Amino acid sequence: MGSIGRDRLAALMAREERLFVEAHPRSRALFVRARGSLLGGVPMSWMTRWPGGFPVFVREASGATVTDVDGHAYVDLCLGDTGAMTGHAPAAAMEAVAAQARRGITTMLPSEDALWVGEELQRRFGLPYWQFTLTATDANRFAIRLAREITGRPKILVFNYCYHGTVDETLITLQDRVAAGRPGSVGPPVDPRLTTKLVEFNDVGALEAALAPGDVACVLAEPALTNVGIVLPRPGYHDALRALTRRSGSLLVIDETHCICAGPGGYTRAYGLEPDVLTIGKPIGSGIPCGTFGVTREVADRILSRADADYVDAGGIGGTLAGNALSLAAMRATLERVLTEAAYARMIPLAERFASGVEAVIDRARLPWHVTRLGCRAEYLFQPRPPENGGEAAAARDEALDAFMHLFALNRGVLLTPFHNMALMSPATSAEQVDRHTAVFAEAVEALLG
Ligand SMILES: Cc1ncc(COP(=O)(O)O)c(C=O)c1O
Repeated sequence: MGSIGRDRLAALMAREERLFVEAHPRSRALFVRARGSLLGGVPMSWMTRWPGGFPVFVREASGATVTDVDGHAYVDLCLGDTGAMTGHAPAAAMEAVAAQARRGITTMLPSEDALWVGEELQRRFGLPYWQFTLTATDANRFAIRLAREITGRPKILVFNYCYHGTVDETLITLQDRVAAGRPGSVGPPVDPRLTTKLVEFNDVGALEAALAPGDVACVLAEPALTNVGIVLPRPGYHDALRALTRRSGSLLVIDETHCICAGPGGYTRAYGLEPDVLTIGKPIGSGIPCGTFGVTREVADRILSRADADYVDAGGIGGTLAGNALSLAAMRATLERVLTEAAYARMIPLAERFASGVEAVIDRARLPWHVTRLGCRAEYLFQPRPPENGGEAAAARDEALDAFMHLFALNRGVLLTPFHNMALMSPATSAEQVDRHTAVFAEAVEALLG
């Protein structure tokens, strides 16, 4: 941590915690009350990850601004950890959602919007056939099942410190270079080493060795890791990944849920990837739950030729509310009118502005930190160079410093994603909001260095 002392950090954190409690009496009262009916006092347990001892309760979220019940307005750079990359409640999507809600939400029958969305997904990502889920997690779960079904192979392969949602097969990490269940994995159904091979991202040799036995149904990969800081692929890595999966007969599943930050067709279109299956969820419905997976013609043919596989009832691919008319109306409006080419042309320069502002502060203070950017997403990490893989990125994490940076920013009106130091730009984000973060970041660094 360079010249920042732990005692100083602890003292600064205690001050920020006091400030936070003093400024949020209503949130605190709601949290105390919520503990009487909600497990842990929150609707979802990860909400306790926000620093300060309790989360702020939200009164309203609009564009790139969140307002809490104590009346504080925040520049929102978390954006629902990508679920609201569209900005909160974008008008164009909300009109379509409200109109569809009045016309019926879920019928177990197709609506016409599904065709428009399928054709637009084709155009954006290049894969011809699509189906819908309610979450990215489910899109990944179904992609894995389908890969197992059509290859007849038992295992999947993922990368160290990947995150693809709460998919059992992916909750695995390398510990002292040996794969083991991810620490803290809650009630794993089986030892994930039975289902999953694990290698470090950017290590072509390890990937080649793991695929060689021919028992891997699919490699499930984010184009760049985004859940342990940003880990970009080395030049040529994706070519090697595609060549090796083809050679070993493993399907390549690309998870674009976060990498959609790279452009309107995600990293896949921006960098010419050729996945067999593509999965995505989170922002493509402007916050209305939805997810989807697309497959190549060859994969589609192999899926449909499996006469014994039960795709239509209790065979393991489903979800009563999946593909509902509300999700599809939200996806249509989002793709047609919110996450457009023009929106990315605004969002990406804002992330560049964020990264260069943060980098200038780091350089001025001569801190051994760096900032990385992918499209409209940027992230700073407490090590001098960008990490090569998930293991290296995880080793550079500093929970205490993270918590301080987040709470310091929150107390000054800026929200960052609680899980890491990620900032995301929406079509509604402004340059002034980005500069507000830069000023707060500089103030935090100054406080740390004394
Ligand atoms: C890359 C990636 N894929 C899938 C998911 C799962 O998304 P959800 O929790 O909405 O199902 C996440 C969640 O963070 C993710 O980062």
